Order: sequence, then C-alpha cells, then structure tokens
Amino acid sequence: MRLDKAISSQGTWSRSDVRKLVRAGRVSVDGAVCKDPGTAVDPAVQNIAVDGEALQYKEHIYLVLNKPKGYISATEDRTQKTVLDLVPPELFRPGLFPAGRLDADTTGFVLLTDDGEFAHRILSPRSHIYKTYLATLERPLSEEAAEQLRGGMTLADGTVCLPAEVRILPGTQAEVRICEGRYHEVKRMFAAAGNRVRDLHRTKMGGLALPDDLAEGDCRELLADELNLVLMSSEF
Ligand code: URA
Repeated sequence: MRLDKAISSQGTWSRSDVRKLVRAGRVSVDGAVCKDPGTAVDPAVQNIAVDGEALQYKEHIYLVLNKPKGYISATEDRTQKTVLDLVPPELFRPGLFPAGRLDADTTGFVLLTDDGEFAHRILSPRSHIYKTYLATLERPLSEEAAEQLRGGMTLADGTVCLPAEVRILPGTQAEVRICEGRYHEVKRMFAAAGNRVRDLHRTKMGGLALPDDLAEGDCRELLADELNLVLMSSEF
C-alpha cells in the first residue's frame, strides 16, 4: 500500500494533507524519514509515525452509535442530518457508512463501519443475525397479533416477511427480533396485524446489546469481544 494511502485511510488527514506532511519530512517509516508519499509500506507490520507519533493503524473501524430521532441512516443528504453527523472527528474515516438502516424516527443501535464485507455478513438474512427492537405500540399487543408476526406475514403489497420472534411486554410494549431488514419492516408488520408502532428502538444487534452507558447521540468504537458478540446468535 502507498504511504499516503496508509495514513489518510485512518481518517485524521486527507490524502493531500498527507502528501504535504510527507514532503515536509514529518513522516517516518521504521524510524527513517521518508519524503516520498508513494513509498510502498505494509502498515500492519511497519512503524509509521507522523511528527514522531506512531500511527495506530487499523484496517477497518467498527462503531456503535446510540441514534436519536431526527437523523437519517445515510452517508450524506442535502437537507437532513445523517448518522455520520454524530461521529466525532477522531473516529471518522473515509468510507464509513451505517450497516443497515433505521428510520429517521427510530432510535438506538446503529453499527457504523468501513468494512463492506462485515456489513454484508451482519445484514444478510442467511447469516441469521437478529436485530432486536423494543416497540411501543398504539394498543397492547394481542396474542393473536403476536402469532401473526411469528408465522411470517405477507404485507398488503405482497412483501413476504420471515417469521419474527415476538414477546408481549406489559402495557403497550413488545419486543421483536428479525434477521432481515426490509423497508419499514417492523412498523409494517405491526400495522398489518392491526396495531401501530408509536416508537421504535433497536436494542441489540446479534448478541450485543446497545451499551447502557452510551448516551443518546454518542458513538464509540466497538471492542474486539463486542464485535464477536454481534456475530453470535443469542437466546431471545
Ligand atoms: N423496522 C422499521 O420499521 N423501522 C426501522 O427503523 C427498523 C426496522
């Protein structure tokens, strides 16, 4: 990999900033100043430093965001705020995107990454990685309606939803988990069963719950064992 790409991929500096830094003699590779931005490096094994500070190279980044209402799950939009607007500069990287969409008015767990393969893996229904939601409904969920969701529903437009796992909670709440992510899927399933979702909050991806200490709007890097939990199946 080129030296300028290795450094700029980590997000702090743009490619053109990096070229200037390198040409100014502020970058070293294994202790020796390197002034050619095109030098081939292996950032996984070589020690690259900018102004004497070692680059903590990571091939990919994985973030958990506690999404508030009012942000769309996209990387850019001309009028609306996106989930990327909530990522602090020190965690930002080129190529970062939300792995899966939450509606603008849905809150909770959003995983952001620049690793397309990982995103595909967690989103493909074939991986059986469940996404768990807490739904606040207009009315208490009846056992019959819950059974409809559990059986796999066909929506009015012909969309066939895979069976969902559903737990009726006190009051007007229900917990539901699905391993696919069709457009407005949870809301449309409850609507087809004669109810309405007032609030939707994603509490879990795979076996990893949204961390309790992550305030709404906050975002942090996932630890390696948390990332493994995302990929693990868990009991409902
Ligand atoms: N299902 C929905 O209807 N909305 C979401 O945001 C996520 C799942």
